[in-house]
Amino acid sequence: MDTVVSGIRPTGFLHLGNYFGALRNFIKMQNENNCYFFIADYHSLTTHPTPGDLRTNVKNVLIDYVAAGLDPEKATIYVQSDVPQVCELSLLLSMNVYVGELQRVASFKEKVRRQPNNVNAGLLNYPVLMAADILLHRADKVPVGKDQEQHLEMTRDFAQRFNHIYQNEYFKLPVAYNFGNDLIKIPGLDGSTKMSKSDNEGSCVYLSDAPEVVRKKIMKAVSDSGPTEPGQPKSQAVENLFSLMKAVSAPDTLQYFEDQYQACQIRYGDMKKQLAADMIAFIQPIYERILELRSKDDYISKIAREGAEKARESAAKTIKDVREIIGFKAL
Ligand code: ADP
Ligand code: TRP
Repeated sequence: MDTVVSGIRPTGFLHLGNYFGALRNFIKMQNENNCYFFIADYHSLTTHPTPGDLRTNVKNVLIDYVAAGLDPEKATIYVQSDVPQVCELSLLLSMNVYVGELQRVASFKEKVRRQPNNVNAGLLNYPVLMAADILLHRADKVPVGKDQEQHLEMTRDFAQRFNHIYQNEYFKLPVAYNFGNDLIKIPGLDGSTKMSKSDNEGSCVYLSDAPEVVRKKIMKAVSDSGPTEPGQPKSQAVENLFSLMKAVSAPDTLQYFEDQYQACQIRYGDMKKQLAADMIAFIQPIYERILELRSKDDYISKIAREGAEKARESAAKTIKDVREIIGFKAL
């Protein structure tokens, strides 16, 4: 049985991008593998949340995870900071990671550009902590969206480096869990290429959005004035509507609007109405479970407590092995 590890930062509610990027095929995933799904609250400290916001967001993500279909009986669901061994592994790995390679990471460069006044060391070290998350359970597979490809590649580099330095094939080299398909990137409603709660709130449809909210968001989504000649390439905003439709609608619905576009007869109002209906049908069962779970504090605490216990067990074993391999021995 393979081990799967996946994390999401608690910076808000889960959106469709998170769902399709990190939770795609979760039923198969949790039935066939030993899964660890965690809430990356240490990672979220790079943006300096208040203690109140942090706690609320962690709880909301846990609820969204379970409502989306993760089964605490099958998968280990936990909060990253409940398993502080990850910090030790991150520190140990960091001794063989070079500042230059961290400075060249695309997501770091992007953060420096976006928030020049908050380039903290946690941001620089982000990929090392993420590698520690994954290697802590000696994962084989990591379900992530396209944006995490480089981080995963670095995880493999750090694992391989450790194995090489200590001449011990201890860590496996984890690969993206993509079910044989390309990694996914769900676009935003605002014409941006990536739906993201941390980069652009206005781009998101949340799993916890009420049907009316989803409808309004879709009807307001950016489009353009329509194609004027056959074969005209789609604008980014229209491409986005088609990608969203591909994610939630039936293939023949998608084909119908594709044909309409190609024939220059598309009416974006009709397309958005259909997209809104299909997206609501997709989200509604999850939305209803979210509402239910929000009043079940005891159940949510129990999931976090039991998940932490299981995750700590797996982490303790890895840390014990790693300490021995490195040469920490009792005097
Ligand atoms: P956000 O970008 O909204 O802050 P995170 O960075 O916490 O979300 O992402 C958690 C997981 O969700 C990662 O596996 C990431 O690849 C995936 N993910 C986030 N946004 C998207 C998207 N638009 N399309 C596909 N996967 C995504
Ligand atoms: N870096 C991921 C993101 O922003 C979140 C994350 C942290 C993660 N640790 C992880 C994802 C380990 C997968 C595995 O999307």
